[in-house]
This record gives sequence, structure tokens and C-alpha cells, in this order.
Amino acid sequence: MTSKIQAPRGTYDVLPEQEGARDAVDRAARRILEGAGYRRIETPAFEATELFSRTVGEATDIVQKEMYTFEDAGGRSLTLRPEGTAPVCRAYLEHGMHKLPQPVKLWYLSSFFRYERAQAGRYRQFWQVGVEAIGSDDPAVDAETILLLHALLTELEVRDISLRIGSLGTPASRAAYREELKDYLRSNEDRLSEDVRARIDLNPLRAFDADHPGTREVMAGAPRLLDHLTGEDAEHFAEVRALLDRAGLPYEIDTTLVRGLDYYTRTLFEFTSGVLGAQSAVGGGGRYDGLIEEIGGPHTPAVGWAAGIERMLLAAERLPEAAPVVDLFVAYEDAGRRAEAFSLVADARRAGVNTQLELAGRSLKGQLRQADRLGARYVAILDGEGMKLRDMQTHEQEDVGSAAAVVAGVLRGRHPG
Ligand code: HAM
Repeated sequence: MTSKIQAPRGTYDVLPEQEGARDAVDRAARRILEGAGYRRIETPAFEATELFSRTVGEATDIVQKEMYTFEDAGGRSLTLRPEGTAPVCRAYLEHGMHKLPQPVKLWYLSSFFRYERAQAGRYRQFWQVGVEAIGSDDPAVDAETILLLHALLTELEVRDISLRIGSLGTPASRAAYREELKDYLRSNEDRLSEDVRARIDLNPLRAFDADHPGTREVMAGAPRLLDHLTGEDAEHFAEVRALLDRAGLPYEIDTTLVRGLDYYTRTLFEFTSGVLGAQSAVGGGGRYDGLIEEIGGPHTPAVGWAAGIERMLLAAERLPEAAPVVDLFVAYEDAGRRAEAFSLVADARRAGVNTQLELAGRSLKGQLRQADRLGARYVAILDGEGMKLRDMQTHEQEDVGSAAAVVAGVLRGRHPG
């Protein structure tokens, strides 16, 4: 026997019985986000590699190690999207959405690809639901998007969530701070991990992310970016906080919050769930006022977030089950009635009745058992004596003369009176 082929490492199949839970996320996201004026967008699964290297950042793990990059037959370097913000901004620019009333509010539910070490809650193809509000620097947009993510997590009953927020300031204030942090790191170089030491110049902020004990000790005493914000940035952050306070949403200020993407400016936030273990981030985002300029557009402030579908489901209280509704099952006694049964199914479906036909050559008794297993509300039985409609709830059975009578009977049962 030849060897079996399995799904690639870090990927998974969504089986029919899991689809109900995912569908619940889709419906909750649609209701909450479209209710707040967000409209759905879908971008291609792959983009020019440069889109991500310019925005997510050359020095990030994502760009350095995790991208599925390939050259197509035409010699272009393409990359399976590792995230959704840069593609949505590319689409915003490409379609002239700056001419629409601002901010343009978009949401998506798509799959993304990162070559990460696979483990519980971390996959190489994963799904995110996300929003991007492009074209306003109003702190109310920051606060609103955070509240929307909270509403989604609450609706899905994601357990034990907490919110951390921070601010990165503008690139100018960050640049000054970076120099100070670099000096501090250099003066403590001997206690840092090799990884952090190698990236002091490239990405000193990532030192706050390190697990290495020595590095963590050093970072506990490091200067904090939040203490280096310009007046305007500090005011912006204060306003975001005031609006969250007003909305009654609790949060913790995290002076060392860093995320694995370079495009952030000002507000930064992350929701974690206490039931998730190592991969505890269920969703996060922030402001990225410079991203659109980075890809050749005009200065366009924007803010957004993305939440991982797998992690939300893992941390959710209860998973809704998928139960396909079967209004009618069409059973027939012998092959002579097969064509008639087939056309009855077509008639019923045209009338909007969810109908299934016997497809496995079962005996009439076996067909009735199958209808029962499927939870069919009615069964049409085409047997030697004609056509019957059986109500599977009351077990009442009536003789019916035609396909139309079957359909009418089922519809009457659906809307009694
Ligand atoms: P991110 O923090 O990289 O942000 O990803 C957002 C969420 O996606 C994470 O909190 C996590 O739940 C999920 N996620 C990330 N990687 C994986 C993985 N390998 N397996 C399973 N789940 C994963 C972004 O992607 C930004 N684009 C968010 C954003 C939107 N910022 C502004 N707008």
C-alpha cells in the first residue's frame, strides 16, 4: 500500500460538526461589526512580498522567519498573507477609498499564514476576524474598536479575558526613546540573551518580549516608552483611556506592551484569556498612522485589530453545535418509484423545503430509520399504495395525492394556522 498523505503540519480540517461553532463566530462578528457601520472586505490570499516587508517590518519575526514566500512562474516574489492590515490598506489606496467619507470602516474574516512552531492555539494557517478603521486620528475610534472587540469576545462567551493597553507614541518620540533604551541595553549587555544582544540596534523594543531570565531582570529596570510620549501623544492616550473608563471597560496599562508588528503608532492593545495557556492572546491591535504612507499613499491615520478564531473558540464557554435542518426526507419502496421521488425532491427544494433523498439503496424500513437519524420533520413515502406524508413528531400519516400536496403539507407544518 502507498503511504497516506496527511494535512500539512500546523494546518487542520474544519469538519462539518465543527462548522457550527465557526459559523457562530461569523454571525456574531457580522452582527456586531456591521451594526457599528463596518463593511466586509476580502483581499487576495497572497500579495507582493514587499507589502509585508515594508509595513510589518524587516526586523520582525514575521518577516524574518515566518512568511510563506515564493516566486511565481512570472518571476514575482509573492507571499501568503501573514496578516490583514497591510492588504486592507493596500486595497484602500488602490480603490481610492480616501474619497469616501472618513473613516472607512472595514472588517474581514479570512485565513492567514505564518510559518510558526505549531502548538495548541498556534497554527500555520489560522483564521482571524479583524477590523480596520482608516482615515481618522480621533481617539474615539481607538476606544470604539476596542469596545467592539470586547463585545465580540463577550458575545462568544470567551472566558477569563483581560485587556492591556499601552501607547507607542509617534515615530519621533519613539526614536528618541529607542536611543535611550539602546544605551541602557548596551550598558547591561553581559546579562542579555544572545538573541536580544544581536538585535539591540535593529529592534531594541523586542527585549521587553524576551523569556530569558537575565534579560527579564534587566528589562524590569529599563526606561519606559510611556514616560517619553510627546504632549500630543500623551493627550491622545489619556483620551482613549477616558473613553474606555466612561464605557466601564476595565483595562490594565502595560508600559511594556509590544506586539510583533512594526507599523504601530500611539494606541496598542491586547486581550488575553486566562484559560489559554502559553498562546494567551485572543486578539489585539492598535493605531498605525504611518502605514499608508509607508506603501506610497498620503498621511492617513488608522486603527484596527484582529482576533484569532481558533483561540476564541478554544476559550469560549460553550460551542454551538451544527444541526442541519431536514424538513422532508423522501423514501421510496422500489426502484420503479425512484424517478418520481427524485422529481418530488426537486419540487420541494424549489419551494424552499430542506429535502433529502434516499441515496444508498436502503430498504423502506432502513430509509425510515435514516430519516429518523437525520431528525427529519416529515417523510414522504412512495410505496405500492401511492404517496403518504408522515409527521415524524406526531407519527400521524396521511395519504396525499401529489408532490404539490406533500410540499403544502410540509409548509403547513412549518407555519401552522
Ligand atoms: P497579531 O497580534 O499578529 O495581529 O494577530 C492577531 C491575533 O491572531 C492574535 O491575537 C491571535 O489570536 C491570532 N493569531 C496570530 N498568529 C496566530 C497563529 N499562528 N495561530 C493561531 N492564531 C494566531 C495582527 O495580525 C494585526 N494585523 C492586528 C491588527 C489589525 N492591528 C491593526 N489592525
